[in-house]
Amino acid sequence: MENHIHPTVFKVSSEQRKGRLKQSPKLIWFTGLSGSGKSTLANAVEAQLFEEGYMTYLLDGDNIRTGLNKDLGFSDEDRVENIRRITEVAKLMMDAGLLVVSAFISPFREEREMIAKLVGEENFLEVFVDCPIEVCEQRDVKGLYAKARKGIIKNFTGIDSPYEKPLHPAVHIHSDQEELTKSIQKVIQTISATISH
Ligand code: ADX
Repeated sequence: MENHIHPTVFKVSSEQRKGRLKQSPKLIWFTGLSGSGKSTLANAVEAQLFEEGYMTYLLDGDNIRTGLNKDLGFSDEDRVENIRRITEVAKLMMDAGLLVVSAFISPFREEREMIAKLVGEENFLEVFVDCPIEVCEQRDVKGLYAKARKGIIKNFTGIDSPYEKPLHPAVHIHSDQEELTKSIQKVIQTISATISH
């Protein structure tokens, strides 16, 4: 398709924005099943980074699937589009100089590899929040597993839609075995060398 789009050359560069904020933009990507604890952990990690003086932003189902992506459902196609848009938003935020923290199931390995390519492998930190489905289902904080078992919700991750585990995550959290404070520490320790002022 022919396109007639001619990007403007911006006067302010991402290097200048990075310099002013004195930090290296990164995308800290939490992936895991619904109920695995990724939102809780991502939230806590963002809070700690912000407290340490970094400029951060958290992208999470609640602020994306009720706004930007409220037209999307949970078919494979819609999940891919969900992640594609989130990646583009994250890229803009990184261009603005921010440390972006995200929490989405993001069940497909190929999609997560695509995110890394789009934002640069060196800027992408994958955190696998690993929790056995039995534990997620037993917790069933939102009551969604029960509905999925009854067939009220279709294409539910881990029930009738796949979750492909990361093969080489930067951080591997066992949220059913570790205290939250330990998990926060593990993530912060791994990323702190790469984000410093
Ligand atoms: S993703 O697969 O496209 O990355 P995302 O993280 O945005 O998913 O949204 C997951 C949240 O949507 C879950 O935590 C859950 O609250 C809700 N949800 C509703 N329907 C489904 C479904 N079919 N599968 C998984 N999560 C669902």
